[in-house]
Amino acid sequence: MVRLGARRLFNCRASRPAGAAKKLPLALLVFFAALLYSQIQPPPSKIPGTPGGPPVTAPRTRLRDGRHLAYLESGVPKEKARYKIIFVHGFDCCRHDVLNVSQALLEELGIYLLSFDRPGYAESDAHPARTEKSIALDVAELADNLQLGPKFHLIGFSMGGEIMWSCLRYIPHRLAGVAILAPVGNFWWSGFPPDVVEEAWRVQFPQDQRAVWVAHHLPWLTHWWNTQTLFRGSSVKHGDPAILSREDRIVAHKFMERPYKARIGVVQFEQVRQQGEHDSLHRDMMVGFGTWDWSPLEMENPFAGAVDEEVKVHLWHGAEDLYVPVQLSRYISKKLPWVVYHELPTAGHLFPAADGIPDVIVRSLLPGDE
Ligand SMILES: *[C@@H]1O[C@H](CO)[C@@H](O)[C@H](O)[C@H]1NC(C)=O
Repeated sequence: MVRLGARRLFNCRASRPAGAAKKLPLALLVFFAALLYSQIQPPPSKIPGTPGGPPVTAPRTRLRDGRHLAYLESGVPKEKARYKIIFVHGFDCCRHDVLNVSQALLEELGIYLLSFDRPGYAESDAHPARTEKSIALDVAELADNLQLGPKFHLIGFSMGGEIMWSCLRYIPHRLAGVAILAPVGNFWWSGFPPDVVEEAWRVQFPQDQRAVWVAHHLPWLTHWWNTQTLFRGSSVKHGDPAILSREDRIVAHKFMERPYKARIGVVQFEQVRQQGEHDSLHRDMMVGFGTWDWSPLEMENPFAGAVDEEVKVHLWHGAEDLYVPVQLSRYISKKLPWVVYHELPTAGHLFPAADGIPDVIVRSLLPGDE
Protein backbone atom coordinates (compact mmCIF):
# COMPACT_ATOMS: atom_id res chain seq x y z
CA MET A 1 0.00 0.00 0.00
CA VAL A 2 2.67 2.42 1.01
CA ARG A 3 4.74 1.57 -2.00
CA LEU A 4 1.83 1.99 -4.33
CA GLY A 5 1.08 5.33 -2.74
CA ALA A 6 4.63 6.47 -3.17
CA ARG A 7 4.68 5.44 -6.78
CA ARG A 8 1.44 7.27 -7.42
CA LEU A 9 2.83 10.32 -5.77
CA PHE A 10 5.91 10.03 -7.90
CA ASN A 11 3.86 9.65 -11.08
CA CYS A 12 1.76 12.54 -10.04
CA ARG A 13 4.74 14.76 -9.57
CA ALA A 14 6.26 13.69 -12.82
CA SER A 15 3.18 14.38 -14.87
CA ARG A 16 2.19 17.71 -13.33
CA PRO A 17 3.64 21.17 -13.64
CA ALA A 18 6.21 22.27 -11.08
CA GLY A 19 3.73 24.61 -9.34
CA ALA A 20 1.67 21.72 -7.94
CA ALA A 21 4.80 19.99 -6.67
CA LYS A 22 5.61 23.08 -4.65
CA LYS A 23 2.14 23.18 -3.18
CA LEU A 24 2.29 19.62 -1.89
CA PRO A 25 4.62 20.28 1.06
CA LEU A 26 2.49 23.26 1.96
CA ALA A 27 -0.65 21.12 1.91
CA LEU A 28 1.05 18.55 4.11
CA LEU A 29 2.13 21.24 6.51
CA VAL A 30 -1.40 22.60 6.74
CA PHE A 31 -2.71 19.08 7.23
CA PHE A 32 -0.34 18.32 10.09
CA ALA A 33 -0.86 21.71 11.69
CA ALA A 34 -4.62 21.10 11.62
CA LEU A 35 -4.10 17.63 13.06
CA LEU A 36 -1.90 19.01 15.82
CA TYR A 37 -4.36 21.77 16.55
CA SER A 38 -7.23 19.31 16.85
CA GLN A 39 -5.06 17.21 19.18
CA ILE A 40 -4.27 20.03 21.57
CA GLN A 41 -7.80 21.48 21.59
CA PRO A 42 -9.81 20.27 24.58
CA PRO A 43 -13.22 18.82 23.73
CA PRO A 44 -16.21 20.95 24.74
CA SER A 45 -17.25 20.54 28.37
CA LYS A 46 -20.55 18.94 29.31
CA ILE A 47 -22.77 21.51 30.96
CA PRO A 48 -24.65 20.36 34.08
CA GLY A 49 -28.40 20.47 33.75
CA THR A 50 -28.45 20.60 29.94
CA PRO A 51 -29.51 17.79 27.59
CA GLY A 52 -26.59 15.39 27.38
CA GLY A 53 -24.92 17.02 30.36
CA PRO A 54 -24.70 15.65 33.91
CA PRO A 55 -27.80 16.06 36.09
CA VAL A 56 -28.05 18.74 38.74
CA THR A 57 -28.72 17.09 42.08
CA ALA A 58 -27.35 19.67 44.54
CA PRO A 59 -28.72 23.08 45.48
CA ARG A 60 -27.03 25.72 43.34
CA THR A 61 -26.77 29.49 43.54
CA ARG A 62 -26.56 31.77 40.53
CA LEU A 63 -23.73 34.27 40.32
CA ARG A 64 -24.01 37.68 38.69
CA ASP A 65 -22.37 36.49 35.48
CA GLY A 66 -24.89 33.66 35.15
CA ARG A 67 -22.72 30.77 36.37
CA HIS A 68 -24.04 28.44 39.03
CA LEU A 69 -22.18 27.12 42.05
CA ALA A 70 -23.39 23.88 43.64
CA TYR A 71 -23.05 23.67 47.40
CA LEU A 72 -23.42 21.44 50.43
CA GLU A 73 -24.36 22.68 53.89
CA SER A 74 -23.66 20.95 57.19
CA GLY A 75 -23.41 21.71 60.89
CA VAL A 76 -25.98 23.87 62.66
CA PRO A 77 -28.45 26.01 60.66
CA LYS A 78 -26.81 29.26 59.60
CA GLU A 79 -29.44 31.37 61.39
CA LYS A 80 -28.34 29.85 64.71
CA ALA A 81 -24.62 29.55 63.99
CA ARG A 82 -21.95 31.33 66.01
CA TYR A 83 -19.41 30.62 63.29
CA LYS A 84 -19.75 30.23 59.54
CA ILE A 85 -17.00 28.38 57.75
CA ILE A 86 -16.61 27.98 53.99
CA PHE A 87 -14.46 25.07 52.86
CA VAL A 88 -12.61 25.18 49.52
CA HIS A 89 -11.69 21.77 48.10
CA GLY A 90 -8.53 20.67 46.30
CA PHE A 91 -7.56 19.34 42.88
CA ASP A 92 -9.76 16.55 41.55
CA CYS A 93 -12.24 16.84 44.43
CA CYS A 94 -15.72 18.25 44.94
CA ARG A 95 -18.04 19.70 47.59
CA HIS A 96 -18.35 16.33 49.31
CA ASP A 97 -14.64 16.37 50.15
CA VAL A 98 -15.31 18.87 52.91
CA LEU A 99 -13.17 18.66 56.04
CA ASN A 100 -14.71 15.93 58.19
CA VAL A 101 -15.38 17.95 61.34
CA SER A 102 -17.14 15.88 63.99
CA GLN A 103 -20.84 16.45 64.54
CA ALA A 104 -20.07 16.91 68.24
CA LEU A 105 -17.74 19.83 67.57
CA LEU A 106 -20.07 21.43 65.02
CA GLU A 107 -22.76 21.44 67.68
CA GLU A 108 -20.54 22.38 70.61
CA LEU A 109 -19.16 25.48 68.92
CA GLY A 110 -22.24 26.25 66.80
CA ILE A 111 -20.62 25.91 63.40
CA TYR A 112 -22.34 26.18 60.04
CA LEU A 113 -20.08 24.56 57.44
CA LEU A 114 -20.49 25.32 53.74
CA SER A 115 -18.69 23.48 50.97
CA PHE A 116 -19.09 24.06 47.23
CA ASP A 117 -17.97 22.64 43.91
CA ARG A 118 -15.31 24.88 42.45
CA PRO A 119 -16.00 26.07 38.88
CA GLY A 120 -15.85 23.20 36.39
CA TYR A 121 -16.02 20.49 39.07
CA ALA A 122 -19.02 18.20 39.68
CA GLU A 123 -22.12 20.39 39.35
CA SER A 124 -20.74 23.94 39.27
CA ASP A 125 -20.58 25.61 35.87
CA ALA A 126 -17.19 25.90 34.27
CA HIS A 127 -15.44 29.25 34.20
CA PRO A 128 -13.09 29.22 31.23
CA ALA A 129 -11.91 32.75 32.06
CA ARG A 130 -11.15 31.88 35.65
CA THR A 131 -8.09 33.37 37.31
CA GLU A 132 -6.50 33.32 40.72
CA LYS A 133 -8.59 36.42 41.47
CA SER A 134 -12.00 35.29 40.17
CA ILE A 135 -12.23 32.39 42.60
CA ALA A 136 -11.87 34.77 45.57
CA LEU A 137 -14.70 36.91 44.20
CA ASP A 138 -16.77 33.74 43.70
CA VAL A 139 -16.32 32.88 47.38
CA ALA A 140 -17.50 36.34 48.46
CA GLU A 141 -20.49 36.17 46.12
CA LEU A 142 -21.40 32.71 47.33
CA ALA A 143 -21.36 34.01 50.92
CA ASP A 144 -23.58 36.94 49.91
CA ASN A 145 -26.06 34.79 48.03
CA LEU A 146 -26.38 32.48 51.02
CA GLN A 147 -26.60 35.48 53.39
CA LEU A 148 -23.72 34.48 55.61
CA GLY A 149 -23.23 38.04 56.82
CA PRO A 150 -20.25 40.37 56.52
CA LYS A 151 -17.57 37.93 57.73
CA PHE A 152 -16.88 34.22 57.67
CA HIS A 153 -14.04 31.77 58.23
CA LEU A 154 -12.31 29.93 55.43
CA ILE A 155 -10.56 26.57 55.26
CA GLY A 156 -8.86 25.47 52.06
CA PHE A 157 -7.01 22.25 51.31
CA SER A 158 -4.26 21.69 48.71
CA MET A 159 -5.26 23.62 45.56
CA GLY A 160 -8.02 25.08 47.76
CA GLY A 161 -5.23 26.04 50.17
CA GLU A 162 -3.50 28.01 47.45
CA ILE A 163 -6.82 29.79 46.85
CA MET A 164 -6.70 31.03 50.46
CA TRP A 165 -3.85 33.36 49.45
CA SER A 166 -6.11 34.83 46.76
CA CYS A 167 -8.89 35.34 49.28
CA LEU A 168 -6.46 37.04 51.68
CA ARG A 169 -5.42 39.32 48.88
CA TYR A 170 -8.79 40.17 47.31
CA ILE A 171 -11.45 39.77 50.03
CA PRO A 172 -9.66 40.28 53.39
CA HIS A 173 -12.50 42.50 54.65
CA ARG A 174 -14.79 39.44 54.54
CA LEU A 175 -12.55 37.13 56.52
CA ALA A 176 -12.80 36.28 60.22
CA GLY A 177 -10.00 33.71 60.09
CA VAL A 178 -8.33 31.36 57.63
CA ALA A 179 -6.86 27.86 57.79
CA ILE A 180 -4.58 26.95 54.89
CA LEU A 181 -4.00 23.19 54.68
CA ALA A 182 -1.12 21.70 52.65
CA PRO A 183 -1.41 24.46 50.07
CA VAL A 184 -0.10 24.12 46.55
CA GLY A 185 2.73 26.58 46.07
CA ASN A 186 3.60 28.23 42.79
CA PHE A 187 7.31 27.91 42.00
CA TRP A 188 7.18 31.13 40.00
CA TRP A 189 5.87 33.44 42.72
CA SER A 190 8.35 36.21 43.18
CA GLY A 191 10.26 36.37 46.43
CA PHE A 192 11.50 32.78 46.74
CA PRO A 193 15.27 32.39 46.91
CA PRO A 194 16.50 30.07 44.11
CA ASP A 195 17.77 27.40 46.51
CA VAL A 196 14.35 27.08 48.17
CA VAL A 197 12.64 26.65 44.79
CA GLU A 198 15.26 24.18 43.67
CA GLU A 199 14.93 22.06 46.79
CA ALA A 200 11.13 22.07 46.54
CA TRP A 201 11.29 21.26 42.81
CA ARG A 202 13.48 18.24 43.47
CA VAL A 203 10.99 16.73 45.91
CA GLN A 204 8.56 16.17 43.04
CA PHE A 205 8.64 13.16 40.78
CA PRO A 206 9.94 13.87 37.25
CA GLN A 207 6.48 13.30 35.75
CA ASP A 208 5.04 15.89 38.13
CA GLN A 209 7.82 18.34 37.37
CA ARG A 210 6.99 17.99 33.68
CA ALA A 211 3.24 18.43 34.18
CA VAL A 212 3.80 21.55 36.29
CA TRP A 213 6.39 22.89 33.85
CA VAL A 214 4.01 22.51 30.91
CA ALA A 215 1.13 24.15 32.83
CA HIS A 216 3.34 27.16 33.51
CA HIS A 217 5.35 27.55 30.32
CA LEU A 218 3.05 26.06 27.70
CA PRO A 219 -0.47 26.42 29.12
CA TRP A 220 -1.97 25.93 25.63
CA LEU A 221 -0.45 22.44 25.66
CA THR A 222 -1.84 21.50 29.08
CA HIS A 223 -4.81 19.58 27.71
CA TRP A 224 -2.70 17.52 25.34
CA TRP A 225 0.03 16.91 27.88
CA ASN A 226 -2.38 15.62 30.47
CA THR A 227 -4.25 13.35 28.09
CA GLN A 228 -1.34 11.99 26.04
CA THR A 229 0.08 8.54 26.68
CA LEU A 230 3.59 8.88 25.23
CA PHE A 231 5.11 10.31 28.40
CA ARG A 232 4.26 9.49 31.96
CA GLY A 233 1.65 11.94 33.26
CA SER A 234 1.12 13.66 36.60
CA SER A 235 1.08 11.17 39.47
CA VAL A 236 -1.42 13.35 41.30
CA LYS A 237 -3.90 13.14 38.44
CA HIS A 238 -3.36 9.42 37.91
CA GLY A 239 -3.55 8.56 41.61
CA ASP A 240 -0.12 6.92 41.52
CA PRO A 241 0.37 5.27 44.95
CA ALA A 242 4.08 6.22 44.90
CA ILE A 243 3.05 9.72 45.86
CA LEU A 244 1.67 8.55 49.20
CA SER A 245 3.96 9.17 52.15
CA ARG A 246 4.10 6.75 55.06
CA GLU A 247 1.21 8.38 56.89
CA ASP A 248 -0.70 9.10 53.69
CA ARG A 249 -0.82 5.36 53.06
CA ILE A 250 -2.68 4.92 56.33
CA VAL A 251 -5.33 7.57 55.61
CA ALA A 252 -5.53 7.31 51.80
CA HIS A 253 -8.42 4.87 51.92
CA LYS A 254 -10.50 7.41 53.82
CA PHE A 255 -9.76 9.94 51.20
CA MET A 256 -10.46 7.64 48.29
CA GLU A 257 -13.53 5.96 49.77
CA ARG A 258 -15.61 9.04 50.11
CA PRO A 259 -19.04 8.44 51.63
CA TYR A 260 -20.77 10.09 48.67
CA LYS A 261 -19.45 7.42 46.34
CA ALA A 262 -21.62 4.84 48.00
CA ARG A 263 -24.53 7.20 48.38
CA ILE A 264 -24.60 8.37 44.81
CA GLY A 265 -23.49 5.06 43.41
CA VAL A 266 -20.89 6.36 40.98
CA VAL A 267 -17.15 6.34 41.11
CA GLN A 268 -15.81 9.50 42.73
CA PHE A 269 -13.88 10.66 39.71
CA GLU A 270 -16.91 10.27 37.49
CA GLN A 271 -18.76 12.89 39.48
CA VAL A 272 -15.82 15.14 40.10
CA ARG A 273 -14.70 15.19 36.45
CA GLN A 274 -18.11 14.68 34.84
CA GLN A 275 -17.96 17.92 32.84
CA GLY A 276 -14.63 16.95 31.34
CA GLU A 277 -11.07 17.15 32.56
CA HIS A 278 -10.21 20.42 30.95
CA ASP A 279 -12.46 22.83 32.81
CA SER A 280 -11.79 21.07 36.09
CA LEU A 281 -8.29 19.60 36.34
CA HIS A 282 -6.37 21.31 33.57
CA ARG A 283 -7.58 24.79 34.38
CA ASP A 284 -6.66 24.21 38.00
CA MET A 285 -3.10 23.53 36.89
CA MET A 286 -2.98 26.42 34.44
CA VAL A 287 -4.16 28.89 37.08
CA GLY A 288 -2.39 27.37 40.08
CA PHE A 289 0.98 27.19 38.36
CA GLY A 290 0.40 30.10 36.02
CA THR A 291 2.00 33.52 36.01
CA TRP A 292 0.60 35.68 38.80
CA ASP A 293 1.20 39.40 38.86
CA TRP A 294 1.51 39.32 42.66
CA SER A 295 3.02 36.98 45.19
CA PRO A 296 1.78 35.85 48.62
CA LEU A 297 5.38 36.33 49.75
CA GLU A 298 5.07 40.05 49.27
CA MET A 299 1.77 40.36 51.06
CA GLU A 300 1.47 42.74 54.01
CA ASN A 301 -0.69 41.64 56.91
CA PRO A 302 -4.16 42.32 55.46
CA PHE A 303 -5.52 42.67 58.99
CA ALA A 304 -2.97 45.12 60.35
CA GLY A 305 -4.75 47.84 62.26
CA ALA A 306 -8.00 45.93 62.64
CA VAL A 307 -8.73 46.64 66.30
CA ASP A 308 -12.09 44.98 66.75
CA GLU A 309 -10.85 41.43 66.58
CA GLU A 310 -7.72 39.55 65.83
CA VAL A 311 -7.95 37.64 62.58
CA LYS A 312 -5.80 34.55 62.60
CA VAL A 313 -4.28 32.88 59.58
CA HIS A 314 -3.07 29.34 60.20
CA LEU A 315 -0.86 27.49 57.75
CA TRP A 316 -0.53 23.71 58.11
CA HIS A 317 1.86 21.51 56.16
CA GLY A 318 3.18 17.96 56.53
CA ALA A 319 6.96 17.64 56.34
CA GLU A 320 6.63 14.39 54.35
CA ASP A 321 4.18 15.74 51.79
CA LEU A 322 5.03 14.26 48.37
CA TYR A 323 2.18 15.93 46.50
CA VAL A 324 3.13 19.45 47.49
CA PRO A 325 6.65 20.03 48.79
CA VAL A 326 6.74 21.57 52.26
CA GLN A 327 9.67 23.87 51.44
CA LEU A 328 7.54 26.60 49.88
CA SER A 329 5.11 26.78 52.82
CA ARG A 330 8.02 26.72 55.25
CA TYR A 331 9.62 29.67 53.53
CA ILE A 332 6.34 31.60 53.25
CA SER A 333 5.79 31.14 56.98
CA LYS A 334 9.19 32.71 57.66
CA LYS A 335 8.42 35.68 55.43
CA LEU A 336 4.94 36.34 56.79
CA PRO A 337 5.06 36.84 60.56
CA TRP A 338 1.28 37.24 60.72
CA VAL A 339 0.80 33.60 59.68
CA VAL A 340 0.72 30.96 62.44
CA TYR A 341 2.64 27.99 61.08
CA HIS A 342 2.03 24.39 62.08
CA GLU A 343 4.47 21.96 60.51
CA LEU A 344 3.53 18.35 61.14
CA PRO A 345 6.83 16.44 61.22
CA THR A 346 5.53 13.01 60.19
CA ALA A 347 2.48 13.96 58.12
CA GLY A 348 2.15 13.76 54.35
CA HIS A 349 -0.44 15.51 52.23
CA LEU A 350 -3.63 13.83 53.36
CA PHE A 351 -3.43 14.66 57.08
CA PRO A 352 -6.77 16.51 57.03
CA ALA A 353 -8.37 13.08 56.54
CA ALA A 354 -6.70 11.57 59.63
CA ASP A 355 -8.82 10.78 62.69
CA GLY A 356 -9.34 13.76 64.96
CA ILE A 357 -7.28 16.21 62.88
CA PRO A 358 -10.25 18.14 61.45
CA ASP A 359 -11.37 19.03 64.97
CA VAL A 360 -7.87 20.14 65.94
CA ILE A 361 -7.70 22.39 62.88
CA VAL A 362 -11.10 23.93 63.55
CA ARG A 363 -10.47 24.47 67.27
CA SER A 364 -7.25 26.31 66.54
CA LEU A 365 -9.00 28.50 63.98
CA LEU A 366 -11.91 29.68 66.09
CA PRO A 367 -11.30 32.28 68.79
CA GLY A 368 -11.34 31.26 72.42
CA ASP A 369 -10.40 27.68 71.59
CA GLU A 370 -6.65 27.62 71.27
C1 LIG B 1 -15.50 11.29 59.65
O1 LIG B 1 -15.35 11.39 61.03
C2 LIG B 1 -16.09 10.45 61.78
C3 LIG B 1 -15.86 10.76 63.23
O2 LIG B 1 -16.19 12.09 63.54
C4 LIG B 1 -15.66 9.04 61.41
O3 LIG B 1 -16.46 8.11 62.09
C5 LIG B 1 -15.79 8.84 59.91
O4 LIG B 1 -15.27 7.60 59.55
C6 LIG B 1 -15.05 9.92 59.18
N1 LIG B 1 -15.28 9.76 57.76
C7 LIG B 1 -14.28 9.82 56.85
C8 LIG B 1 -14.67 9.60 55.44
O5 LIG B 1 -13.12 10.07 57.14
